[in-house]
Amino acid sequence: MYNKTLRPQKELVLCEDGSNTLFSKEFDEPYHSTKDGALHESLEKHVKPAFGIKQNHEKLTILDICFGLGYNTFATLYYIKLNNLKTKVHILSPEFDEGLVRSLNTFSFPTEFDFLEPIIDAISKNLFYEDEQFKIEILLGDARESIPKIKEQIDVIYQDAFSPTHNPLLWTKEFFSDMAKISKTDTILTTYSTAASVRLGLYENGFYIFIHRAELMRYSTVASMKMLEGYFEYVDMELKKVRNPTARSFRDKNF
Ligand SMILES: C[S@@+](CC[C@H](N)C(=O)[O-])C[C@H]1O[C@@H](n2cnc3c(N)ncnc32)[C@H](O)[C@@H]1O
Repeated sequence: MYNKTLRPQKELVLCEDGSNTLFSKEFDEPYHSTKDGALHESLEKHVKPAFGIKQNHEKLTILDICFGLGYNTFATLYYIKLNNLKTKVHILSPEFDEGLVRSLNTFSFPTEFDFLEPIIDAISKNLFYEDEQFKIEILLGDARESIPKIKEQIDVIYQDAFSPTHNPLLWTKEFFSDMAKISKTDTILTTYSTAASVRLGLYENGFYIFIHRAELMRYSTVASMKMLEGYFEYVDMELKKVRNPTARSFRDKNF
């Protein structure tokens, strides 16, 4: 059962899709859109668009920013099981809240994650899990420090930090530059943010920008190092700059 005393800075919140999330008093924000729902949001905004674009890949390396309750990582494994995929997946996930990760084996996840119990337990205890198909590594510490140290080339980035208003340093042009350095020529990034400043920061680092629409969900952003044909609605950022000449990407020096 969820133990409130272990997480005094966080409150349990039931989302509209029936899955649980937390509200962070520190960041003054829920970990997920309570309207879209934690599980639904992970699947629709991150996992499905990523696997739609990267279908038929034998192996994927995923950067999950940041681990939090682990929904994006666990929803990835759930999606793979549901679709009987053989894709080998290596997930690297920065997170500085060690106490949260270590408490996840007591969190009330949706029943869809029941089969993941041994994996969730291993991650809570070791911050690491590996079998023949999956390797999951929590990069403990500040994402701004851990991402530049990553040696792997990344296929998919789930950008799921708290919002730019409450956690701006995880949305700057410089932060996206660190991601671009470990990207391949066809890396894709998924994020719930549709802010012009976020899209500009990605665009200034070589990403093409697309709108992703899913059912029962506010639209979100897919960014790609390669032009995507036929998947999503393309956003012409040069035109956006003409129409919105005061828009700027977020910069480290401003925070
Ligand atoms: C919105 S939550 C992530 C939700 C997560 N993707 C999930 O599905 O449960 C943001 C997370 O970022 C972590 N965080 C915030 N700033 C960070 C930083 N600079 N480095 C590492 N983790 C950070 C917070 O502790 C929190 O767990």
